[in-house]
Amino acid sequence: MKVSIIGSGNVAQQLAPVFKRNKCIIYEICSRNPAKGKALAKRVGAAFINNISKVTDTGGVIILAVKDDAIEEVIKKLPALQNTLVIHTSGATDISVLKRFKSSGVLWQVQTIQARTKVDFRKVPIVIEGSNTPAEKKLAQLARMLNGRVYIFDSYQRSVLHLSAVWSNNFVNHLCHLAEQLLKKHRLPYEILGPLLMSTAENALKNPGQSQTGPALRRDKKSMAKHLTSLNNEKHLQQIYTLLSESIAKINSK
Ligand SMILES: NC(=O)c1ccc[n+]([C@@H]2O[C@H](COP(=O)([O-])OP(=O)(O)OC[C@H]3O[C@@H](n4cnc5c(N)ncnc54)[C@H](OP(=O)(O)O)[C@@H]3O)[C@@H](O)[C@H]2O)c1
Repeated sequence: MKVSIIGSGNVAQQLAPVFKRNKCIIYEICSRNPAKGKALAKRVGAAFINNISKVTDTGGVIILAVKDDAIEEVIKKLPALQNTLVIHTSGATDISVLKRFKSSGVLWQVQTIQARTKVDFRKVPIVIEGSNTPAEKKLAQLARMLNGRVYIFDSYQRSVLHLSAVWSNNFVNHLCHLAEQLLKKHRLPYEILGPLLMSTAENALKNPGQSQTGPALRRDKKSMAKHLTSLNNEKHLQQIYTLLSESIAKINSK
C-alpha cells in the first residue's frame, strides 16, 4: 500500500516508520516545515514536498496528520484525489469534513503520542471510521498493521471517547504538572508521589467512583481552606482547586 502523510509532527513521525516496517511504500511526506519534513522523508525513503495542492493521487492512502484546527484548511488545498483514501487522525473531528473525497475515513489512536517517545502500537487501541465499505476495509487493513485492538465507531461516538481521553489523560497530566511545580518551588522531591500515582492509575482503571478519597470527599473544610490560603497568589489555581473540590462533593452526594 502506498501511504503519503501530510504533516511532520508527533503522529506523522510515529506512524510513518511503522507503516514502512509493514511493507508500505511511504510515498510522500508533505510538510510546511521543511527541516522536519525532509528529515522524516529521508528516514522513511519518501519524497518530500511542501505544496499540498501537488500531493499525488497514488491510489493508496493519504493521512492528514496536522493539528485539528488545520484539517479543513488542508482539505481545501488538496487536489481531487479520485483514487486515494483520504483520512485524518483526529479524535474530535467529524468524518464529514472529508466529504469532498470519494473515499475517506478516520484512524484515531487512543494514546498520547510524542515524536520523541517510542510508541508500542500493539498496546494502542485504534478507532476507525470509513465513508463507505471499501474505505472501511482499507482502513481496517491499515489499522491492523499497528497490531493493536481495532474499534469501529462513528464520529459522535469518537468525539465522546475523545472527551473522555481529555479528562483522563490531558487533565490528569496537567494536575501532575501542577503538583510537580509546587514541589519544585518548595524544594521537595516529586518522586515521592510515585507510589501514589501508580495506585491512582490502578484504582481509576478498576473503579474510579469507589476510589475517591481526600478532603473534598470528607468535607474537611479546615484542610481545604488551608490549601486555598497556600495558593494565595495564584487565583486560577484556587479556582481549579475549588471547582474540582465542588465536583468531587457533588458527584459523591448522589
Ligand atoms: N499527539 C497525540 O497524542 C495524538 C493522539 C491521537 C491523535 N492525534 C491527532 O493527530 C493529529 C496531529 O497531531 P500531532 O500531535 O502530530 O500534532 P503536532 O505534533 O502539533 O503536528 C502537527 C503538524 O501539523 C502541521 N500544521 C499545523 N498547522 C498547519 C497548517 N495550517 N497547514 C499545514 N500544516 C499544518 C504542523 O506543521 P509545523 O511543524 O510547521 O507547525 C505539524 O507538522 C491531530 O489531528 C491530533 O488530534 C494526536
